[in-house]
Amino acid sequence: MTINVLFVCLGNICRSPTAHGVFEKLVADQQFSTRIFTDSAGTSNWHIGGSPDPRSTAVAAQRGYDLTQLQARQVSAEDFSHFHYVLAMDNDNLNHLQALQPNDYNGTLSLFLDFSRSEMREVPDPYYGGTDGFETVLDLIEQASQGLLADIKAKHL
Ligand code: 4NP
Repeated sequence: MTINVLFVCLGNICRSPTAHGVFEKLVADQQFSTRIFTDSAGTSNWHIGGSPDPRSTAVAAQRGYDLTQLQARQVSAEDFSHFHYVLAMDNDNLNHLQALQPNDYNGTLSLFLDFSRSEMREVPDPYYGGTDGFETVLDLIEQASQGLLADIKAKHL
């Protein structure tokens, strides 16, 4: 059995695919790929089937992460039957997921940055801003990914 982790944002083209690519690489680098499965999804249906935003892909590539194979999809209530961790990028995403979550869900539904020592609680939406925003997203995600993997190792591996 694998521990399954789902990252969720609004569009599934900027923040959650970045988290998907970063966390998946961290897991692979530490030889946990057979034990931990990573995925991402959006609360909206706006970009279903689409590739990550080219700005996310470019900034990620500069740090050695490949997002080019990812494809956007929309989160569904069924995801709660597969995923042990459902991690929201911001409070809007979390509110959406809390409404979707079945009553008997006993995994972890939280903000992704709950696993980070950063003072920020949310990963800010970079979509309408400049490149700086995409760098900030990566910084926050790299930090929180370390904390998340430590949590999984402590509780499940
Ligand atoms: P994401 O960013 O939620 O991090 O993927 C966004 C992507 C697209 C839009 C908004 C945010 N949009 O308005 O299409």
